[in-house]
Amino acid sequence: MPHFKSLTLTAFRNYELASLDKLGNNFIVLTGANGSGKTNILEALSLFAPGRGLRKSPLDVMQNNEIAQPSWAVSTRIASDYGEIPMGVGYDQNSGRRITRIKGKDVRAQSELSEYISLLWLTPQMDGLFLDSGSERRRFFDRMIFTSFDGAHAGRLTRYENAMRQRNKLLQDDEFNDTWIDSLELDMAETGVAIAASRLDFIYRLNGASRKFAETGLLKSFPMGEFTAFGYLENKLAERHSAVSCEEQFLTLLRDSRRIDAKRGGTSDGPHKTDFKVQHLKKNMAASQCSTGEQKALLTGIVLAYAQMVREEKNIMPVLLLDEIAAHYDKDRRAELFALLYAMGGQVWITGTDQEIFINAAPETQFFTIEKGKIKQQ
Ligand SMILES: Nc1ncnc2c1ncn2[C@@H]1O[C@H](COP(=O)(O)OP(=O)(O)OP(=O)(O)O)[C@@H](O)[C@H]1O
Ligand SMILES: [Mg+2]
Repeated sequence: MPHFKSLTLTAFRNYELASLDKLGNNFIVLTGANGSGKTNILEALSLFAPGRGLRKSPLDVMQNNEIAQPSWAVSTRIASDYGEIPMGVGYDQNSGRRITRIKGKDVRAQSELSEYISLLWLTPQMDGLFLDSGSERRRFFDRMIFTSFDGAHAGRLTRYENAMRQRNKLLQDDEFNDTWIDSLELDMAETGVAIAASRLDFIYRLNGASRKFAETGLLKSFPMGEFTAFGYLENKLAERHSAVSCEEQFLTLLRDSRRIDAKRGGTSDGPHKTDFKVQHLKKNMAASQCSTGEQKALLTGIVLAYAQMVREEKNIMPVLLLDEIAAHYDKDRRAELFALLYAMGGQVWITGTDQEIFINAAPETQFFTIEKGKIKQQ
């Protein structure tokens, strides 16, 4: 199973130079006081997935603000089926750009990262996922799709966003160039339909996996969800319009809304507006109406069902980054969660302020304590 074997942080956040080595395919527990640097380590790991990492921070913000030079860098060796793969992510202060390197070579498309490692995280900021705006939920579901199932989904999202951004910009010109906009809209329609199709396919399979998981009776404290994707193209595809017809209808919609979109300064509809509805399967209640504790357990349940599904379908286990996951769960819930995760058998990163509650979490756990940007293995 692909997992991180090592991690080195240079001038990254509150770390000057720090590393973790000889990491196994098991639980890795990071403990330390508030502000010691636990989440920063998870953030560094999250940069090995396409996107801006778990805080969605701009590159310059991740630069250690006490040392200006060198530019921050995070490197790792991934244990994979093809042997050990060195990878690095860094910031070039001169150009202001991100550098992504796999096996010593610069790669342009971040989506290539998903070919080597599958990563998913849960952070305290995500506790309000069912109450937040649709964009957070969309990001969460899209990540589940591209990190383990459809690596090209990340590339398509970027391509769609780029075309949309250019279209929105062109529409601001008084005399916009129709031919250019035509070609951008064609790009949006083609990638848009593929994005929507991938989402529907994923939701269908995640629903199946969740129901199956619920039937095993293995889960006591973590409810399963039922999911629906709502969006212009997703709805059309779900109504069994062909892909070609969806593409044509979306093209017409885009063409017809040019004037309005020019005024509004954005594209009115499309896969960038899609929302994901989550229902508590057993209670048959919208997740947004569940209690805070239920919502948190439901979110953890989604990750468990997802991990189980990846394991069954792909024979791999995504690396999980669980920031402060134990904080809101009592002893029994924690024990259930850890036992399930251990049985699934992948690399799970867990942070917390107290080491004590993780002592018997799982066999072979590696413990690290963090103190003001210094990492010590126990
Ligand atoms: N660019 C930066 N340069 C230097 N220090 C930074 C930078 N960004 C964040 N920090 C600091 O890094 C420290 C550790 O942050 P982090 O979020 O990793 O803490 P934590 O151990 O997860 O704490 P908590 O238990 O409160 O979640 C914080 O004090 C923060 O202010
Ligand atoms: Mg933290």
